[in-house]
Amino acid sequence: MTPMAQPLLDARDITVRFGGLTAVDAVSARFMPGELVGIIGPNGAGKTTFFNAISGVTQATSGKLLMQGRELSGKGPHRFAASGLARTFQTPRTFADMLVRDNIAFGLKFAGRRPRQYIWWGEETTVPWVLRTPESILGLIGLSAQADLPAAAITPSQQRLLEIGMALATRPRMLLLDEVAAGLTENEVEEMAQLIRRLRDELDLTVVWIEHAVTTLLRHVERVIVLHQGRKIADGTPAEVVRNAEVIEAYLGDEMNEPTAEEAAA
Ligand SMILES: Nc1ncnc2c1ncn2[C@@H]1O[C@H](COP(=O)(O)OP(=O)(O)O)[C@@H](O)[C@H]1O
Ligand SMILES: [Mg+2]
Repeated sequence: MTPMAQPLLDARDITVRFGGLTAVDAVSARFMPGELVGIIGPNGAGKTTFFNAISGVTQATSGKLLMQGRELSGKGPHRFAASGLARTFQTPRTFADMLVRDNIAFGLKFAGRRPRQYIWWGEETTVPWVLRTPESILGLIGLSAQADLPAAAITPSQQRLLEIGMALATRPRMLLLDEVAAGLTENEVEEMAQLIRRLRDELDLTVVWIEHAVTTLLRHVERVIVLHQGRKIADGTPAEVVRNAEVIEAYLGDEMNEPTAEEAAA
């Protein structure tokens, strides 16, 4: 019998309470190296709170987090970052007054300060060349032409790309994306999905992607986790999840029946 591969991140029974509200209710999920996993669920389902808990932004009320077998629960956010976790925020957090290039340089500086024993890519020489300079990262995310603009001057969709670039500059093993396609046009959403796949493929990342544009997400991920009222109600391939009765009842029934932009315009 071959041993089971070790998950990159193993979240066990993660619970987050805010006073009397249980925002995340004993959610367990394992993320394998190189996986592209989606997280969907209605507004208020606990998606962002789950991300906050697994990226160290919020301390879980209870539960256990293991990154490649090493316990992360209870550690500070810097330890999460140092172990290779990077995330974007639902509302992009870029430095508006700084040049696009310097926003990326900031992330790189952070990566440079990472204690050696925590560098997942090993020595500096093993960092993929594309993650070594602001210019190469901007090329990767398609923002080379905007390098010398202040971040405040670029479009909202470019802000989202910039935030992904800042996360990549920390040279993560695992990238958590919180609604990076929100507010984008249909074409931009598709381009974003292509970029996410390319990042996973070329940088060998584990990517977890929360998105409201469910139909696009389901076309691109290999696995999808469905949250509803803080609980995980499904975890499987997109084909399995769209046939799941509880998921249809709680969520997809409405989402899938929403007219597409073309249908609405017809
Ligand atoms: N800091 C907080 N304090 C109190 N309640 C919160 C906080 N953050 C989120 N919540 C609540 O937790 C629930 C889950 O929110 P959230 O994780 O943002 O959902 P989602 O991202 O799926 O839309 C919601 O009911 C929300 O109002
Ligand atoms: Mg959210």
